[in-house]
Amino acid sequence: MSTEKKKNKTILSGIQPSGHLCIGNYVGALKNWVDLQYEYNSIFLVVDLHAITVRQTPSELRKQCLSFLAQYIACGIDPDTSTMVMQSHVSQHAELSWVLSTLTSMGELNRMTQFKDKSKRHSQNINAGLFTYPVLMAADILLYQADVVPVGADQKQHLELARDLAQRFNSRYSPTFSVPEPYIPKSGARVMSLQNPMKKMSKSDDNLNNLIALLDPPDVITRKIKRAVTDSGTDIRYDEVSRPGLANLISLYSSLSGMDIPTVENHFAGKQYSVLKKDLADLIVETLIPIQETYHSIIQDKDYLESILFNGANTAKYLARRTMSKVYRKVGFVVPKKEK
Ligand code: TRP
Repeated sequence: MSTEKKKNKTILSGIQPSGHLCIGNYVGALKNWVDLQYEYNSIFLVVDLHAITVRQTPSELRKQCLSFLAQYIACGIDPDTSTMVMQSHVSQHAELSWVLSTLTSMGELNRMTQFKDKSKRHSQNINAGLFTYPVLMAADILLYQADVVPVGADQKQHLELARDLAQRFNSRYSPTFSVPEPYIPKSGARVMSLQNPMKKMSKSDDNLNNLIALLDPPDVITRKIKRAVTDSGTDIRYDEVSRPGLANLISLYSSLSGMDIPTVENHFAGKQYSVLKKDLADLIVETLIPIQETYHSIIQDKDYLESILFNGANTAKYLARRTMSKVYRKVGFVVPKKEK
């Protein structure tokens, strides 16, 4: 790892390998990870253990996991700089999660808004894993002594729990875990659904017209943007409250072009919505084409992807063992002979 990195500072994040990685994930997460990986020691997870809290088709899940890894790389996560980890390859995630679950109260988990939302959406499958999901996420973070965790607003409550658990363990036993800080992405990084701009664009949305997948072909991208919901105004002005659909398109244009919002407004002054939509679609296509080209060339190369996971797991296991042996010792377990 480069010596210019904020030495001792580790950044960690992860995405569930379900649904379709989308432009919202790119702008809100992956694009930032790519920049941050050169500043910090970085660990990026494909959180397959989290994914099975909702029903998955095994053959599909396996494909999705490799596809997500390939998309991370195609977006610019550099395997020589960052550690990329398949969560299930490092058994300590589940082990630490167990220990942390004994420090977590039912009440804390009951308050989690994502649990409430997901219980509504998957009312036939409210399993215990869905309930303890935030504890596993805390384990992901604390296992590697992460200092900084980039997450969207919807994950803030989970990160808060990770911080509480770190502090709780540290004060009950002795200092063991770094207390992670959230990394708040720049404003405008939140991409909204194309058909319902009041809610966040979600990679797991059943209606694919709500999202631009990173792997959508150009004609699909153009069609989805053309059909994106806007109000019936005429001028291109940013107003999140009264014109959320238009604001979402302006904001996405701003994020991808690097122009700030007023500059985008000026750029389209006197033009019609259709011009913004056409230019935005072109800009998305231009951004995604190189990503798709890289993706299609590496997704076939299973050996390459497996070697990245092998190296990632090796680095991760070293760190994970170090944390877990401390944790088991501090809680009072007998240290097995070979580890002495
Ligand atoms: N729960 C996160 C999400 O749904 C994914 C996640 C799992 C995560 N473990 C993590 C994010 C650790 C950051 C750090 O978006």
